[in-house]
Amino acid sequence: MKEKIEKILSEVKSFHADSKEALEQFRIQYLSKKGTITELFTEFKQVAPEMRKEMGMRLNELKNTIQDIIDEQQKQFETKSEGKTDLDLSLPVDAMNGSRHPLSIVRNEINDIFKRLGFVVAEGPEVEDDFHVFSALNFPPDHPARDMQDTFFVTKSPDVVLRTHTSSVQVRVMEQGKLPIRIIAPGRVFRNEAISARAHCIFHQIEGLYIDKNVSFADLKQTLYHFVQEYFGEGTKVRFRPSYFPFTETSAEMDISCNICGGEGCNICKHTGWVEILGCGICDPNILKACNIDPEEYTGFAFGMGIERIAMLKYQINDLRMFFENDLRFLKQFENA
Ligand code: DAH
Repeated sequence: MKEKIEKILSEVKSFHADSKEALEQFRIQYLSKKGTITELFTEFKQVAPEMRKEMGMRLNELKNTIQDIIDEQQKQFETKSEGKTDLDLSLPVDAMNGSRHPLSIVRNEINDIFKRLGFVVAEGPEVEDDFHVFSALNFPPDHPARDMQDTFFVTKSPDVVLRTHTSSVQVRVMEQGKLPIRIIAPGRVFRNEAISARAHCIFHQIEGLYIDKNVSFADLKQTLYHFVQEYFGEGTKVRFRPSYFPFTETSAEMDISCNICGGEGCNICKHTGWVEILGCGICDPNILKACNIDPEEYTGFAFGMGIERIAMLKYQINDLRMFFENDLRFLKQFENA
């Protein structure tokens, strides 16, 4: 009898009901009036008196184990039938379906490099007023950038426009009056331009601004040099060319050695070996004044770059329209980026 009990015990322990009906069948087989346990109790009457105590205990143990198994598995069916599961559907997903857009990938990578240098991400509105896009940035009233050709006007009075550059975020941050400032401002900008392989009426920029005591052009150069080495690889050369922006004095444009031909000359770099990637400079004292920052005490540098341009160089994309057409054959190539 001992062996029989052991055998049944191991059988029932491995039982798993896949339906309520199967569980009921199991109960009938073992615990009903004509079931296995009843049979065993009948057999028990013939057990020799000296074995009774032990066999009785084993038999009761078996009966309880079977009851526990039934109770436990019964619970699962009850929760399922109430529509509850162990899944918490309100939890955020940790695996993303699909993939990021190449412009988001590039923006995040650029952000990360500057964040490691202590820059924090700042944002501002896409629909802006003339003050933040132009006046506070030292654009003279008749500056061509205010012209209808470039700017999308929303209303004329008050002067509301779609921002033509993320430099407007500089002004928003400076106005808050918390110094020092070390921000990068990625965002979408709008210009009334004909759509072509090289231009679009909507594109993206990343603006950088650093204002503190004793910030110099050397700091600007070193920061941007570091960015280029990190993003385009060590050994990428940089050069600064004098330029003009209303909000910086001194102003420069920065070129990097063409990462496509390695400086040999190709049609991307127009056979010069160099490609321009950003504008930059030392903040003009006038823009600090417009935001109530004392230019005698504080100096700063700023830079601005187009995300599309950086992405085109990084991934050797020769038509800017690709970014906006959402052709899956294009987007799928960035699945693992
Ligand atoms: N805002 C300029 C543009 O859209 C880019 C730029 C140039 C930003 C120089 C800057 C800068 O902060 O210092 O073309």
